Amino acid sequence: MGNTQRGNEEIEMEFSLDSLQPKERASFALRALYEAAGCRKYHMGRFEEYGLYQENRSFLSSEQVITFTDLDGRLLALKPDVTLSIAKTAQPAPGETLRYYYHENVYRPSAESHTFQEISQMGLEMLGAVGEAQVQQAVRLAAQSLAQLGAAWVLEVSHMGYLFGLFDALGVPENARPGLLEKLREKNAHELRRAAQVAGLDAAGADALTGLLELSGSCEETLAKAESACRNDRMRAAAAELRALAKTLEASGGAVRLDLSLAGEMEYYNGLVFQGYLQGLPRPLLKGGRYDLLMQKFTPGAGAIGFAVYLDELDRLSAPTPPVQRNSTGRVMLNVALPKGRLGDRMYDLLARIGYGCTEDYNATRKLVVENSAAGIRYFLVKPSDVAIYVEHGAADVGIVGKDILTEASADVYELLDTGLGRCRMCVAAPADYKDDPSRPVRVATKFVNIAKSYYASIGRDIDIIKLNGSIELAPILGLSDVIVDIVETGTTLRENGLRVVTEFMPISARFIANKASYQFKHNEMDAMLEALRKTLQEETK
Ligand code: PRP
Repeated sequence: MGNTQRGNEEIEMEFSLDSLQPKERASFALRALYEAAGCRKYHMGRFEEYGLYQENRSFLSSEQVITFTDLDGRLLALKPDVTLSIAKTAQPAPGETLRYYYHENVYRPSAESHTFQEISQMGLEMLGAVGEAQVQQAVRLAAQSLAQLGAAWVLEVSHMGYLFGLFDALGVPENARPGLLEKLREKNAHELRRAAQVAGLDAAGADALTGLLELSGSCEETLAKAESACRNDRMRAAAAELRALAKTLEASGGAVRLDLSLAGEMEYYNGLVFQGYLQGLPRPLLKGGRYDLLMQKFTPGAGAIGFAVYLDELDRLSAPTPPVQRNSTGRVMLNVALPKGRLGDRMYDLLARIGYGCTEDYNATRKLVVENSAAGIRYFLVKPSDVAIYVEHGAADVGIVGKDILTEASADVYELLDTGLGRCRMCVAAPADYKDDPSRPVRVATKFVNIAKSYYASIGRDIDIIKLNGSIELAPILGLSDVIVDIVETGTTLRENGLRVVTEFMPISARFIANKASYQFKHNEMDAMLEALRKTLQEETK
C-alpha cells in the first residue's frame, strides 16, 4: 500500500507539461487561452455529408475528399475541413455572437506523398454578430496563440477589401482577378505586371497593382503608405479597419506585420486575412480571416471570422538544428540553394561580385556546402531540379531555379525576381512533316509532365503522356511519340534531329525564389541581397 502510494507520487512528480511533445503542449496552452477568452469547445464527428463539400467547392483547398457510402446509402466524407461544418450547424440567433474553438483531425490530399494525410487542427470561430470588437478579439487571439508556442513569431495581416477595392478602381475584369491574386500571393512582380497588361490595364494600372507588393512591413509605416494610395471608399474602409486593428495589436507585443499582397482564397475571405509564422517552421502555422459570405449561405445576415492552427507542424520544433545550419558568429546567415552547373556558376559569380563570395572554390572540391560567415552567406550545391524542394521545405532560405522546373514542381514559394539569365522557351516540337490527327489523343513525350498536361488542357486537346528523363528529341524520331514538350534554347538540338517548333507557349528564365517563412524572419538580409542583385543584373544587361 505504502509503496503504491509512493509510486503514484513519483509519477505525479515526474509529470510536467515540459515533458510533452510541442504539439501536445500547444494544445493545452491554446485550450486555456480560448476558454479564458469565453470560447466554448465545439466537438464534431469525423464524417460529414459529402454534399456540403460539393456545394462549397471553392471553400476547400482541394476538391479531393475521401468519401464512402454509409449503411443507409448516404454518401459521406471524412472531413477535409472543420470551419464549413461549424458554419453549417452553428445557427446563431440575430444579435448573438457564438465563440467556439475546436481540436479535430481533418483529411486532405498531400501532393508530395500522393496520398491523404491526417492533419491535427486547432481553431477558433466567431459566428453571428461580428463587428469591430469581435474582429479585433479574433486577431488578438491569433497573435496570442502564436505567442504561446515558444518561438519567435510573426503575424502577417492584410485586408481583401483593400485588394478588391483596387481591382474595382482599376476596372480589372472579374475573370482576370484569380490569376492576378495568384501572382500577388507569389510576390511575383514581373509576372504580375505582364498579367495586368494581358488583363487590359495600362502602364499606370500595372504600376498600381505591383505597388501592392511594396505595401508590406511594420504596421505604422505600411498603413501610412496604404492610406495615401487609397482610390475609393472600399479601400478607405479596409485601411480604417486595419488602422483600428493595429492599435489593439500593438498591445500584444509581438511581431505583427502588414502585407497587403497577402491574398486569401478569393471566394471565401471577404475582409481581414492573416497568417502566422513561427521561427524554425517552413510554412505558415496559422491561417485565418473573415468569411461572412460563406456564413451567410447558412445563416442570412450573420458574419464570421476564424483561424486554424496546424499543430502537426510543431513536431519539427523538437528536432535539433543540423550542425551545418548552426552559426558561431551570431550573424544571420542566408542559406542559398545553388543549382550545380552553368547557371549556378553564373549566379555565384554575380553574387560573389556583390560581396557574397566564399574563399573556398566549390568547383575545386566535391563539397556540397561552402560558406562565408563574415558575409552571412552559405551555399548548398544541389541538383537544379531539387532547388525548389530545398527552398519550399526551408532547408534553404532562397534559391535560383529555372521557371520550367519551378512550374513543373508548383512549389509553394515566393518568386521574387526574374534574373533574365538562362533564357529559353517551353515548346511543342515535332518532325517536320507532322500533322495533328484529331481522331486520337496526341502522344506527348516530355520531362515536364505537369506543364504538358496543363498546356494541352488549356487548348482542350486530349493527350497520352510518355514521361522521359532526357534526350526527349529521340521519342518522335523512334515513333515513341507524335510530339515532344521541351525547352528550346538555340534550337540546335531540334534542327540536328529533324524536328521543328510547333508552338512556343512559355518563356523561361532563372528565377530567384524564397521560402515564405524565411522571408518573414530574414527579411532585411533578403532585401539587401535582392537589391544588390537587381542592380548588377541591370548593369550586366545594359
Ligand atoms: C535541353 C533540352 C534540349 C536542349 C535544347 O537538354 O531538353 O534537349 O537542351 O537546347 P538547344 O535548343 O540549345 O539545342 P539538356 O541539355 O538539359 O539535356 P537533356 O537531354 O537531359 O534534357
